[in-house]
Amino acid sequence: MFDANFYLFIHLVSLVILAGYTFYAFVAPAETRKSVLMITGIAALLMLVSGFALVTKKGHQWSEVWIWAKLVCWLGIAAMSGIAYRRRALVPKLKLITLGLFVVALFFVVYRWKFM
Ligand code: HEM
Repeated sequence: MFDANFYLFIHLVSLVILAGYTFYAFVAPAETRKSVLMITGIAALLMLVSGFALVTKKGHQWSEVWIWAKLVCWLGIAAMSGIAYRRRALVPKLKLITLGLFVVALFFVVYRWKFM
């Protein structure tokens, strides 16, 4: 329907929103739970849908390992804000795990040609 750049734009904007609000969820007061979970939920969904569209638009195959690696990272990050509000004691660990998932996902963005 739209061109690849449109989906890339959505992918990157939702990535910034998801990252920002996920880290906010680690320190945000309990009353922000509903709104933050709504924002991270929408951003995660947009990121996934635009990612799927990019796979097709850029002519990638589902057999490419990096796509699955990013999907696993995405799944972990998408679940993080919900866990952060429920398990406050785990926040220091969750922060590190989230950071790690972003770093791994970005590694696969840059070195994807090695993991076809
Ligand atoms: C936390 C997880 C993710 C991060 C940090 C991330 C990050 C990025 C970034 C920075 C780009 C731009 C790369 C470029 O233009 O060279 C990109 C492109 C792309 N992403 Fe993601 N992404 C994530 C999740 C996903 C998921 C879940 C999918 C698939 C369902 C996906 C599929 C794609 C595709 C197909 C491209 C275009 C690759 C190309 O230019 O050939 N991404 N992603």
